[in-house]
Amino acid sequence: MAKVKTKWVCQNCGYESAKYIGKCPDCGSWGTLTEEVEVKQTNQKQNIITDDSPVCLIKEIEIKESIKFSTGFEELDRVLGNGLVQGSLVLLAGDPGIGKSTLILQTAGNICKKGKKLLYVCAEESSSQVKLRAQRLNVNSDNLYVYSQTNLESVITQLETIKPEILVIDSIQSIYTSNITSSSGSVSQIRECTNTLMDIAKNKNITVIIIGHVTKDGNIAGPKVLEHMVDTVIYFEGDKYKSQRLLRSIKNRFGSTNEIGVFNMAENGLEEVTNPSELFMKERTDNAVPGSVIIATNEGTRALLVEVQALVGATSYPSPRRVSTGTEFNRLLQIIAVLEKRIGLNLSKHDVYVNVTGGIEIDEPAADLGIALAIATCYRDVVVDTNCVIIGEISLSGEIRNVSNLEKRIYEAQKLGFKKAIIPKQNKKLQGNYDIQIIEVARLMDAISACVSKK
Ligand code: TYD
Ligand code: MG
Repeated sequence: MAKVKTKWVCQNCGYESAKYIGKCPDCGSWGTLTEEVEVKQTNQKQNIITDDSPVCLIKEIEIKESIKFSTGFEELDRVLGNGLVQGSLVLLAGDPGIGKSTLILQTAGNICKKGKKLLYVCAEESSSQVKLRAQRLNVNSDNLYVYSQTNLESVITQLETIKPEILVIDSIQSIYTSNITSSSGSVSQIRECTNTLMDIAKNKNITVIIIGHVTKDGNIAGPKVLEHMVDTVIYFEGDKYKSQRLLRSIKNRFGSTNEIGVFNMAENGLEEVTNPSELFMKERTDNAVPGSVIIATNEGTRALLVEVQALVGATSYPSPRRVSTGTEFNRLLQIIAVLEKRIGLNLSKHDVYVNVTGGIEIDEPAADLGIALAIATCYRDVVVDTNCVIIGEISLSGEIRNVSNLEKRIYEAQKLGFKKAIIPKQNKKLQGNYDIQIIEVARLMDAISACVSKK
């Protein structure tokens, strides 16, 4: 009998070694290498999409138009780049219990209503559990097939008989292929199954949606390689104890990765939030609070209003604490440095905490001025007017720099009833007609005097 060869694979990053090592040399995590049976290279399908076309000049290549179809959710379509692409492989990742199965089942209902055939493989639940959820979500269609199965080969056999246009695998961690002996959820299994699913998507022109769980440290359980293999990676995020959910694409071969989608988890499933600014503003109090500022950020094609809060207090640590949630840490340090040097705030003995409400991650510099004003007002115990929106990037010299999509941001503020917008000084007159007072500021100092008042 031929000797079964094994290898040691890091379950965190997919690093392979011939012998056991305590610490993975690639990702640095300890105790993550487990022994797995080696897969013969000849068995492995290559993850290369070829159509046996000859070498040709770029100008001679004919573009095959990718066919997109709607998921029935505008928010999801936007994140996917105007809908699902026929024959693509999409990975939807998120914490357990965040609502991935709910989102996909509702999406499946929407798609099937339009006459497309869909096979939903529930590897984690029984068919009756799925039926119960579907009843609650009011999903019922003649085109929606449910298959409770963990073996990939059995699923492939069903593909031949049912011939669906869309295949959903819930989840990639609980499905296995008989080609290899490692247990389901292991790196080799996940990799092999995804490879096979990629093959199905490309060769049979079936759109495949894979659901994947993320680990405690926020990575998709299994190797990072999974992200490289698929066409689109979407994260479904949110606080489990709150109803708001965010969809964010981190890789998309068919669209931009800047877009976000907002949902609300309700009694009967997920509801789209078409105007997220309203939702983010809902929890605000009417009274002005020191350290609270509204900024207009840009997420993909739309502007969003979010609240930035700062807390500044005397430190009891040897070196003061700087904590940022929802903003970039280094950006915060830079803003603090500018406030110290240009405005004369002495923050060296103060802790500074900055928080963006609503679970949004802001990584664009247009939030600088808002963050700076939040810190400055909390430090001086004054307030920014509640009907005022702050927009602007800060340079190291304390000047306010222009930002992209300024008009869209101002319109969003106007739509939500704000009365005043602090914006960077413009060289040209703004095009639009606004119903909102616009104050152009050139320096950080001017912004403070334009919108700050005593409590
Ligand atoms: P689920 O889709 O099972 O999560 P995942 O597949 O990501 O593990 O969602 C589970 C949670 O969603 C559960 O805590 C209950 C909640 N939920 C609702 O609030 N309303 C609903 O209509 C449904 C179906 C679920
Ligand atoms: Mg689930």
